Amino acid sequence: MKEIQINVSVSLLMPDELSASDRELVERAKAMTRNSYSPYSHFQVGAALRLADGTIYGGSNQENAAFPVGLCAERAAFFYAQAQAPEQPPVAIAIAAFSGGAFLAKPISPCGMCRQALLEAETRYGCHIRVLLYGTEGTYVINSVRELLPLTFDGSEMA
Ligand code: THU
Repeated sequence: MKEIQINVSVSLLMPDELSASDRELVERAKAMTRNSYSPYSHFQVGAALRLADGTIYGGSNQENAAFPVGLCAERAAFFYAQAQAPEQPPVAIAIAAFSGGAFLAKPISPCGMCRQALLEAETRYGCHIRVLLYGTEGTYVINSVRELLPLTFDGSEMA
């Protein structure tokens, strides 16, 4: 038997260690939590996606009485950006969550469906999307969505 190791590299950065543009992206994600429609979970998530030309598109989670109809903040931001500027590859996404009257101390990470959706952009544009996960104790930085979703299915096996 041969064992295959898959390593994910995550950096933990304090606010003063983030670049100005990353800090701006994180602040936009935090601000987007205020636009969350989350009457069922009361869990307000904000996302901000930066495109190659520097434009930032924001999204927040949008829930529905028929639960599966709702959408995560990450896909709200991502699909919004793709619909407006399909020629621009995404370069980074920041995510923040607000619950119980405060931003969470530990970062939240995108769900599997959001990882899969974002992975498609990395395949489509041949790009890396840096992932910034905000928590009050620090921001996790991961260099690509593919790192967050090892052993991916990206359609390349299809004829
Ligand atoms: N949610 C997001 O928007 N992004 C995540 O990364 C995790 C979960 C939303 C979905 C739902 O509206 C609420 O948070 C609770 O799961």
